[in-house]
Amino acid sequence: MAHTNGNGAQSHHTQAFHRTSLSFSPPTFNGAGSFSGMMAAQAAHVPVPVPHGAAGGQSFSPTSASPSHGRSISIPAGDHASRPRLLTPFDQGDIKILLLENISQGAVALLRNQGYQVDHVTKAWSEEELIEKIGDYHVIGIRSKTRLTAKVFRKAAKLLSVGCFCIGTNQVDLEAAAKAGVPVFNSPFANSRSVAELVIGEMICLSRQLADRTLEMRAGEWNKVSKSCYEVRGKTLGIVGYGHIGSQLSVLAESMGMSVLYYDVVPLMPLGTARQVDAIEDLLANSDFVSLHVPELPETRNMISTAQLAAMKKGSYLLNNARGTVVDLPALVESLETGHLGGAAIDVYPKEPAANGPNTFTDNLNGFESRLRACKNVILTPHIGGSTEEAQKMIGTEVATALIRYINFGASTGSVNFPEVALRAITEGDKGMTRLCYVHNNVPGSLKAVNEILADYNVEKQSSDSFRDLAYLLADVANLDQADLREVYDKITKTKANILTRVLS
Ligand SMILES: NC(=O)c1ccc[n+]([C@@H]2O[C@H](COP(=O)([O-])OP(=O)(O)OC[C@H]3O[C@@H](n4cnc5c(N)ncnc54)[C@H](O)[C@@H]3O)[C@@H](O)[C@H]2O)c1
Repeated sequence: MAHTNGNGAQSHHTQAFHRTSLSFSPPTFNGAGSFSGMMAAQAAHVPVPVPHGAAGGQSFSPTSASPSHGRSISIPAGDHASRPRLLTPFDQGDIKILLLENISQGAVALLRNQGYQVDHVTKAWSEEELIEKIGDYHVIGIRSKTRLTAKVFRKAAKLLSVGCFCIGTNQVDLEAAAKAGVPVFNSPFANSRSVAELVIGEMICLSRQLADRTLEMRAGEWNKVSKSCYEVRGKTLGIVGYGHIGSQLSVLAESMGMSVLYYDVVPLMPLGTARQVDAIEDLLANSDFVSLHVPELPETRNMISTAQLAAMKKGSYLLNNARGTVVDLPALVESLETGHLGGAAIDVYPKEPAANGPNTFTDNLNGFESRLRACKNVILTPHIGGSTEEAQKMIGTEVATALIRYINFGASTGSVNFPEVALRAITEGDKGMTRLCYVHNNVPGSLKAVNEILADYNVEKQSSDSFRDLAYLLADVANLDQADLREVYDKITKTKANILTRVLS
């Protein structure tokens, strides 16, 4: 329905938000706000993060988007009308971001380029420190050491989003975050290449017994041997789990002249000339190297144990850079001790030390460490598969981009605890368009209540999704003037299901 009231062409440049049940100062509908920093960034042809699939005015379906890969596109300066318009807060300085644990300077620069105020801290904060100070911030970025508990979220009255600049999100109480209407973003796949490259290196080291030769030389022993040392060319690599890492590894291994077999629970298109096998036993019986790239799941717990090790070719090698629970390590030790396996590379363990330092990888941890350390031709690394400067940089860019997309566009794609919703960008040509971001309880009648409020206006597009008890609606409404905006906003924030409502224009 067309909007009939007011001069809809007016633009407000307003972002306001209201969270029910948490104390928060009322929004200011101040149309005179500055967003010059944002516009300057656009004019300078800065890559503008947009929802996946939103380029060229195509419609965007959140369900069809890859949840894990945001992307940035650079918008040609000449095509002004179709450029995504950044939906800005009434005052850019208002978005305050706290980055703990020495998050990459690349991420800091991306966020500051948006005009956000970024406090960069090198250390993790304790729960007490967080409780005292989190109330000032709209976004917090952490790595693995800072714990965001329910108590912290209760004090985070302004918090809009959390960025975990790492792979996992165990350090965050995701349910408490969801209850507060706060999406949590991470970067689960930015280090895939680093892991795949490490596996290539490990395969060469294993087949040339490099770990043992190096140890001998360090102890002053010269031991020039070629017996049981091989090239990797012409050998077969069996990849268990053909996801982000497994498939990259496949391409790299083929370029080294290896043949690749893979096993996965889902049928997946092979890259290059790799071949999927139906049963893991086929892979184990025919591979010179077996490399594991599956997630930690009840089904993958000890998926390589005594029977599977016995099914592997004599003299073959096992590599585990996935998760510590995937291999029954005492069974692996036995296989290595009997000489059935030719060697192994292990990066991950069921229990891992909490901190770096001497005497941390001892039998006190899992009980098998000294036996494993004594095995011949074994490469042991301290969970460094994904630990490279490049991966850290990628993580910084990916998480910062996800945060920017959520703050500026309301797009929650890629969040781990939140319904994934994105609308194609509002463009410079879409004059007078306002985006409503409505985080609400997933209860019957909640959409009806909002749509009744919007019934007199022209809703150009809307999309919603739910995740457990939480639901999220994005709606682009044309030609709301200041008075309408105030009225719509007030009514939506008073709906029973409201958790957090934001208005972007
Ligand atoms: N060592 C490190 O530092 C490091 C770094 C990054 C990732 N990882 C770990 O590597 C593993 C793989 O990561 P990814 O990014 O490739 O994950 P991914 O989700 O992209 O791929 C995992 C693949 O495993 C398959 N799979 C699931 N269950 C299976 C089963 N029972 N049998 C066979 N296949 C199964 C899935 O279908 C998927 O294709 C994860 O466990 C991850 O935690 C470790």
